[in-house]
Amino acid sequence: MEGPSRRTLLSASGALGAFGALSLASPARARTLWTWAPSGSVAGEGAGIDPDWVWDEEADPVLAAVIERGDVPSVNEALRRWTRNDQAPPAGLPSDLRDFIEEARRLPSWADRDKLERAAAFNESRGLYLNLLNGVGGGMLSTAIPREARAVYYSKGGADMEDRVAKTSLLGFAVGDLDAFRPGGDVVVQAVKTRLVHAAVRHLLPRSPGWSRTSGGQTIPISQQDMLVTWHSLPTYAMRKMLEWKVPMPSADAAAYLHLWQVTAHLLGIRDEYIPATWDSADAQSRQVLDPVLAPTREGVELTDILLRQLAEQTSPGGVDRPLVNALARYLVGDQVADWDGIPREPFWEKAIATAWPKLVAFREKLLPLPLVPPLAWTIEEAARQYILFYLTKGQGTRIEIPETNRPA
Ligand code: HEM
Repeated sequence: MEGPSRRTLLSASGALGAFGALSLASPARARTLWTWAPSGSVAGEGAGIDPDWVWDEEADPVLAAVIERGDVPSVNEALRRWTRNDQAPPAGLPSDLRDFIEEARRLPSWADRDKLERAAAFNESRGLYLNLLNGVGGGMLSTAIPREARAVYYSKGGADMEDRVAKTSLLGFAVGDLDAFRPGGDVVVQAVKTRLVHAAVRHLLPRSPGWSRTSGGQTIPISQQDMLVTWHSLPTYAMRKMLEWKVPMPSADAAAYLHLWQVTAHLLGIRDEYIPATWDSADAQSRQVLDPVLAPTREGVELTDILLRQLAEQTSPGGVDRPLVNALARYLVGDQVADWDGIPREPFWEKAIATAWPKLVAFREKLLPLPLVPPLAWTIEEAARQYILFYLTKGQGTRIEIPETNRPA
């Protein structure tokens, strides 16, 4: 698998500038025709069916049955004891679900242990950027993805965003952990649990009047295409930003980081024929599925405000740093998405971050001596650290659980 060419990725999408430019290019925000070829996937072949008409045919019927039988509370109870990659599914699960989990937790035949180990080391050394990009940046992108914003808003977890973010961060931290795919890690567990949650949401959300009113004709949420959209808002976006920030990126690291997310995609239930095999292929798919769908929604603006308020509370107990948080979020996702998300403008902090952040990165990468780093950079870094720490701590007190209802009306 080749590494990404810095030029290809940057010129193709202009990093976050891509999201700025696309607003001019696609005012209608229409979904584009699916032309991405399965030959660019990890499977190397496939039927080429538009993934917007494919969901999760293994998980969905099982979770529908679990919900209809009233098994959710006992299943969640049993799943609390399932915490490590090397652990068999716990006793007490209904047999259909147990069989499904046994199958779903197997790594794909193309998983490469050496690459996963290299990715773990890469994640650890780039943890600050990745947590910031996947946590804050990915969060701000997700609220500008209308289908995701509405699914999150109208599902059970939409009523308690702090807990929801903490739950989501469980998967994020699991992926970023040094033990990620080792026997004592928990990516496999968290990803398979997430697959169960998504399957449950596919069964529940169509009954939500709020979701049905705003789904734009989609009758079942979280299609394979929707999954790909969100997937690109995580590794593809993060890689573009790291390249834009001039983080040194040996091609073996880039390939390993991609591989980690390919395996994660598989465990989340994305079909191999849709998982990009290379960064070039990922970038092409991202341009086709992610760029055209970004748009503002009432739900996304509300969720963004809640998320940024929480972030400000964590980074500064008095809440005085909301302007810094606003500016950081804007810096991460660019003006167009920030405007769609309703993130307020903060001229002082925007300028400060645009100046200080690249210098902080250069210093961390040993490309710039300390005296040239503006002191403000440490304030920004500290805010990022507080954010990460907060969710690491919050995450320990929560777990990914199957919902049995939607958000109360
Ligand atoms: C739940 C991650 C795609 C909507 C979750 C959870 C995680 C997660 C970790 C569990 C946390 C929780 O229970 O709150 C991901 C990842 C994705 C992805 C990594 C793609 C790579 C999507 C998409 C949608 C979506 C495309 C909608 C269009 C939801 C909803 C929940 C959820 C509604 C349940 C919240 C609840 O319990 O009420 N996701 N997700 N996700 N996700 Fe996703």
